[in-house]
Amino acid sequence: MQIFGVDIGGSGIKGAPVDLERGDLAQERHKVLTPQPATPDGVAGCVVEVVRHFGWDGPVGVTFPGVVTGGVTRTAANMDKAWIGVDTAKLLARELGGQQPVTVLNDADAAGVAEMTHGAGRGRGGTVLLLTLGTGIGSALFTDGRLVPNTELGHLELKGHDAETRASVKAKEDGELTWERWAHRLSKYMQHVEMLFSPDLFIIGGGVSRKPEKFLPLIEGVRAEIVPAALQNNAGIVGAAMAAKR
Ligand code: BGC
Repeated sequence: MQIFGVDIGGSGIKGAPVDLERGDLAQERHKVLTPQPATPDGVAGCVVEVVRHFGWDGPVGVTFPGVVTGGVTRTAANMDKAWIGVDTAKLLARELGGQQPVTVLNDADAAGVAEMTHGAGRGRGGTVLLLTLGTGIGSALFTDGRLVPNTELGHLELKGHDAETRASVKAKEDGELTWERWAHRLSKYMQHVEMLFSPDLFIIGGGVSRKPEKFLPLIEGVRAEIVPAALQNNAGIVGAAMAAKR
């Protein structure tokens, strides 16, 4: 069975039909650049372009980098503020012509759902926490395989700062931090998260999960097992499609 998945990000909007049994893309993904400013109408046009590229006319799952409840986007830390309060599921369904069901969920939640079924969290019970490190920090919390959506742990306060502004990959790049200095900040952040949730397993996602040897050995003071994500770049697309099946 296939369902279409789309991942909306600050720099690109990418999608592909997903083979749900394999948990992988059924075709090579198509990507368009996120328009700037990334307004709902502009981005919706891009989502339509990505879906139409494949001539897809079935259900579509879409990720968004903010809180999503009942298809409505509620926050937009790194996106245009015009998204706040928009019924994004309805907007996208309308732009697609009104015949295709659309499911929208948080990007980290989508990546987590994919990792728990097809990746690094497969078969893992207990408390599992996926953290995606990129422009922001996203989180997906699972208890015995069940998602607690919209946890937003990237916005915990760390030394008086919004944690993602200290420990995201963007913070590393903006501050020109060495791996060591960044890993030190990430350690502090993960220690704080561990104090609150005592996860059995941390899964680290986002682009940096392709270079785990650069920073995972430098993480200190965290009791839980820490592993890199397995699906990396396509986790969002796969998870979006999985969410649209339900
Ligand atoms: C947003 C989250 C999102 C994360 C990763 C954060 O700034 O608040 O909803 O999951 O970035 O994109």
